[in-house]
Amino acid sequence: MANFSSVKDKVVIVTGAADGLGEAIAKCYAENGMKVVVTDINAEKGRQTVKQMRKQGGDASFFQADVSSEQEVVDMIEFTVNAYGRLDGLVNNAGIAAPNRPLHEYSAEEFDRVTSVDLKGVFLGMKHGVEAILKSKSPGGFIVNIASLAGILGNSSMGLYTSSKHGVVGLTKSAALDYAPYNITVNTICPGTFRTAIWGQATEAVIQDFAAIISPNAKLGDPREIGHLALFLASDLARYISGAAIPIDAGASAGKLTPAKWERPEILE
Ligand SMILES: NC(=O)c1ccc[n+]([C@@H]2O[C@H](COP(=O)([O-])OP(=O)(O)OC[C@H]3O[C@@H](n4cnc5c(N)ncnc54)[C@H](O)[C@@H]3O)[C@@H](O)[C@H]2O)c1
Repeated sequence: MANFSSVKDKVVIVTGAADGLGEAIAKCYAENGMKVVVTDINAEKGRQTVKQMRKQGGDASFFQADVSSEQEVVDMIEFTVNAYGRLDGLVNNAGIAAPNRPLHEYSAEEFDRVTSVDLKGVFLGMKHGVEAILKSKSPGGFIVNIASLAGILGNSSMGLYTSSKHGVVGLTKSAALDYAPYNITVNTICPGTFRTAIWGQATEAVIQDFAAIISPNAKLGDPREIGHLALFLASDLARYISGAAIPIDAGASAGKLTPAKWERPEILE
């Protein structure tokens, strides 16, 4: 019978875990017995998340780190190894949105700002995280990067976000090959549309409209579903999966919706 007990006691860092998808992943990991270091730029929220995790019996610590700063990423890894004696896995989740506009209207400064978190942040996490996992001689080392549907599909008016997320998928594939001989799996989760703070001030109606456009079932995903896939990828049940870009998007990346009339709609009655 398949079970997730192999993740128990694995030491993992989740970046951007104070809120949203990262928080859901961190909580799912802790609920399943992993030792979780929650990191984020938002210390207040991060500490709150850790408090909730501990209240539920989880083993969790907070470390404040901006993933776009190499020194802070190095400090984040050092903190974890000092606190727990090892590192088994890393989830590079922290990311920011970019304003929607046609490519020629973006500035070079905006390119640097988005890329420094969404792409360079993932690179830095992988670079220093992999070293620590190798030194830990983890029997089940893993990296999970959070890209996006925009990591596998083009999007109008989303050039900066889309290029960074495609970059994350590229880094994942390359690193999967680099570290396959050393028993470290490297995968990317590509979420569709999930209700988190990344939507900023957008109203419920705007979010629902967006979901109706890009989701084949016109629904938003539940962040806990991302947690469940991240748990599977961290477990020994997924040791043969590496270099994959896995969408969770209700089928949005499968192709275009084309209207078709059913010959026997009565089967739904
Ligand atoms: N929510 C969605 O619909 C969706 C869809 C596709 C991909 N994603 C991706 O999922 C990831 C998580 O997004 P979310 O929706 O949970 O967003 P969110 O805004 O709810 O959470 C992101 C977290 O990252 C933190 N963060 C931001 N910049 C950081 C930095 N430089 N260093 C460290 N932490 C930082 C924030 O403080 C926040 O806690 C992102 O990479 C995002 O691009 C989200």
